[in-house]
Amino acid sequence: VAIRYTDSVEGIDAGMLGGFFEAWKRPRTPEEHLAILKHSTRVVLASDDDTGQVVGFVNALSDGMQSAFVPLLEVLPEYRGLGIGTELMRRMLTRLTGVSAIDLTCDPSLQPFYARLGMAPSVGMILRKY
Ligand SMILES: CC(C)(COP(=O)(O)OP(=O)(O)OC[C@H]1O[C@@H](n2cnc3c(N)ncnc32)[C@H](O)[C@@H]1OP(=O)(O)O)[C@@H](O)C(=O)NCCC(=O)NCCS
Repeated sequence: VAIRYTDSVEGIDAGMLGGFFEAWKRPRTPEEHLAILKHSTRVVLASDDDTGQVVGFVNALSDGMQSAFVPLLEVLPEYRGLGIGTELMRRMLTRLTGVSAIDLTCDPSLQPFYARLGMAPSVGMILRKY
């Protein structure tokens, strides 16, 4: 599979987004997904070169200096296990090079995935409104 990586939402429309938010009770619509990407400080997108469809993405919210939060990382199920998630995160961490603290939350099973990228386990608090 030929994958193209971009760090801009320019040229992306809702029709190129679909299938994400797997297992969410109320999955965000492609239109909402596009709005999330547009309002993010940084995004990295992975697209299938053959179809133009976005098959993976990661976003970050940041003050550009002290803190960045990485709320969402997802690769479509049929594209997993190919290194796309790792590459998306690697590129995002590069984009956030000047930021001191980069935080995200994840299940314990995913800690090794992020540890391979140089991240360390932590504890946190969250509030969810569904
Ligand atoms: C996590 C995710 C982005 C990884 O994307 P990917 O393109 O498959 O990742 P890579 O191919 O670069 O790396 C795969 C490795 O990630 C690890 N991994 C992926 N998902 C995992 C999970 N749910 N639990 C434990 N390890 C996992 C494995 O070590 C896997 O290694 P393997 O291919 O040797 O089995 C993808 O599985 C996904 O979208 N999951 C659903 C959404 C999600 O959980 N996002 C993370 C939010 S914190």
